[in-house]
Amino acid sequence: MEKIILTGDRPTGRLHIGHYVGSLRKRVQLQNDGDYDKMFIMIADAQALTDNFDNPSKVRNNIIEIALDYLSVGLDPLKTTIFIQSQVPELTELTFYYMNLVTISRLQRNPTVKAEIQMRDFETSIPTGFLCYPISQAADITAFKANFVPVGEDQLPMIEQTKEIVRKFNSIYDNVLIEPDAILSDNSSCLRLPGTDGKAKMSKSLNNCIYLSDESDTIKNKILNMYTDPLHIQVSDPGHIEGNTVFTYLDAFCKDEDFGEFMPEYTNLDELKEHYKKGGLGDMKVKRFLNSIIQKELLPIREKRKELEQNTDIIFEMLKNGTIDARKVAASTLREVKEAMKINYFEHNKIIF
Ligand code: TRP
Repeated sequence: MEKIILTGDRPTGRLHIGHYVGSLRKRVQLQNDGDYDKMFIMIADAQALTDNFDNPSKVRNNIIEIALDYLSVGLDPLKTTIFIQSQVPELTELTFYYMNLVTISRLQRNPTVKAEIQMRDFETSIPTGFLCYPISQAADITAFKANFVPVGEDQLPMIEQTKEIVRKFNSIYDNVLIEPDAILSDNSSCLRLPGTDGKAKMSKSLNNCIYLSDESDTIKNKILNMYTDPLHIQVSDPGHIEGNTVFTYLDAFCKDEDFGEFMPEYTNLDELKEHYKKGGLGDMKVKRFLNSIIQKELLPIREKRKELEQNTDIIFEMLKNGTIDARKVAASTLREVKEAMKINYFEHNKIIF
């Protein structure tokens, strides 16, 4: 079977290091390993509008930001088709037919949707489009016959919902859709990187994110002010690793080679953790080490971004061409879907006569 990878992001803000360790880094690795037949990455503007319908300029303005972030981390339009969701109307048409296969109560039980409804205070007046976005996400995935979807952990309920729709469609109509599987990071610290303040989620409004495009001074400031272990007051005090954001970030970013380069008195992260737990290792020293590692990783990304910012015509062309290619694939699946449902009336004159 062909190996087809599809994933996407809502354009509601620049991408941060949580996105990077949670999914972007993996996508670049998959792309460069070349062990796949096709890879699609979608800027999910239509999905972003389901909870930003009153602020379309926010979504519109962030399309280019996300595209810049993609190319800066190393996604390559020659290997990966990057496209804009709303410009592939076949996705909307698929969504409409899939809507018949899902109940409202099933959507309301989707854990990610449930959490978002609470967070946005939609409780008593949930917009229909918002409630249905998992169905549209199933259309995104199945339109490309993707079998692998690299995402963050919060997207697992969407993949589950997609599988259910695929099974139901295939059993009622015909076997045309493919059940996808999520690809998650195998490093648990990468699955849910906390904010720099130690809060569970990085969020723009909490001002606790490190963005891929942040300047070096900003990154340093954010790291030196990070939440650590509130009980570790004196350098000599024993410290805790669990729930200590600096160590969670080290788990996500640090490689053994980083010690040779930035902290030769230790050989690996376990040694550093042991010293911290015993006492005698100050937070500032660990933070400076983390800062060196993150600076090294983000410098080439930021430089590439600055270069690309000077040449946005190229990005425009890339998105336009990527969208044309994506549309062809989605149209072909839609044709098969309509044939399976026998609603392709004008393709054979025997269907309705
Ligand atoms: N829901 C994803 C997010 O919030 C974006 C998305 C839309 C997506 N369609 C998708 C991800 C299809 C993977 C596959 O970031």
